[in-house]
Amino acid sequence: MGNNLKVCSTSEIPKGEMRVFSKHGVQFLIYNKNNEFFALYNHCPHADGSLGEGMVNEEGYIMCPLHSWKFHHKTGKAPEGQDHSVPTFDIEVRNNEIYFDEQQLMDFDEF
Ligand code: FES
Repeated sequence: MGNNLKVCSTSEIPKGEMRVFSKHGVQFLIYNKNNEFFALYNHCPHADGSLGEGMVNEEGYIMCPLHSWKFHHKTGKAPEGQDHSVPTFDIEVRNNEIYFDEQQLMDFDEF
């Protein structure tokens, strides 16, 4: 119940960077945007690129390292006019640690 699963400390993810984690069999990335943190599913729906190994462009889109599909770091959605997306996860920062709701990972359906 609640955000009970500690994933990492904020200091492990420098500003502007992403890190990939795996918990309960779900791989996700956490992105540090000016010390605001966002979590998205790490698998690109195109051909399974690891989004956390990509770059974030000036408009805030995470670009897949394989073929550059784009996903917004807040919504997981592609730019307007494209219909692909990746799921996002709720996270909470407490005392410089990043927490997930463990249940949302346990209930997550891989696709
Ligand atoms: S695998 Fe991500 S764009 Fe192709």
